[in-house]
Amino acid sequence: MGKIIAIANQKGGVGKTTTAINLSCSVALQGKKVAVVDFDPQGNCSSGFGIKKDSNTIYEAIMGLVDIEKTLVKTKIDNCYVIPSNIDLTGAGVELIEREAREFYLKNALEKIRPVFDYIFVDCPPSLGILTLNGLTAADTVLIPLQTEFFALEGLTQLINTINLVKKNLNPKLQIEGVLLTMLDKRTHLTDDVAKNVIGHFGKKVYKTMIPRNVRIAESPSFGVPVYLHDKNCLGAKAYEELALEFINGKE
Ligand SMILES: Nc1ncnc2c1ncn2[C@@H]1O[C@H](COP(=O)(O)OP(=O)(O)O)[C@@H](O)[C@H]1O
Ligand SMILES: [Mg+2]
Repeated sequence: MGKIIAIANQKGGVGKTTTAINLSCSVALQGKKVAVVDFDPQGNCSSGFGIKKDSNTIYEAIMGLVDIEKTLVKTKIDNCYVIPSNIDLTGAGVELIEREAREFYLKNALEKIRPVFDYIFVDCPPSLGILTLNGLTAADTVLIPLQTEFFALEGLTQLINTINLVKKNLNPKLQIEGVLLTMLDKRTHLTDDVAKNVIGHFGKKVYKTMIPRNVRIAESPSFGVPVYLHDKNCLGAKAYEELALEFINGKE
């Protein structure tokens, strides 16, 4: 049974989508079968993989309009699939509010494909609304990317409170997979302080691998590929490869 990992942080621009694209690619390169659900109406994960606009989307799958298997799109990386999203998903936020068990739509939709994947990553939107609640309810674990900046921990109390509420009411087994420092500038006093602070907060949950700020990473979505296919020898690609190994081997 595949493991479902929500990539969540209600702050925008912290590296959720970048991590969804590049970690799933690197995990697939290790021989695992991986799916990434783009669960943000902005569809950045889909365009980052160069997915055509006319594909079926996760919106249609969770609303029961199309079979989830028909939404899986093969990427240029073997064993790596994407379930795309687009602006239609905004509608789900509104439509679900009125429904019973509205937090369980993603979980129910993923049930059918879970047995055929090793890992399913869910790229959550930058909010703690109904979509992220669906992500956290569907997930076994949550991976939290933090941008390495002075305000990294700001707003995190809210995220942790939400995770605890989901655990209490919707998904008792939910665990924190790991905390990932992203967009690290070359080691400076500030980055060292931020890293220390985050480790002080989350201890061993913080990945030893930290993702550097890297131009190749920022460029690759415009080519519709993970950084590995853009420049597999760059520091960014190497960092996501290292993260994939740390992720697969587990934190314990
Ligand atoms: N390690 C990195 N180095 C350089 N640019 C990055 C890196 N990680 C993310 N970015 C860029 O930062 C912006 C925000 O990242 P993104 O993954 O979209 O964040 P989120 O999904 O949390 O909103 C994007 O333009 C992305 O290309
Ligand atoms: Mg994003």
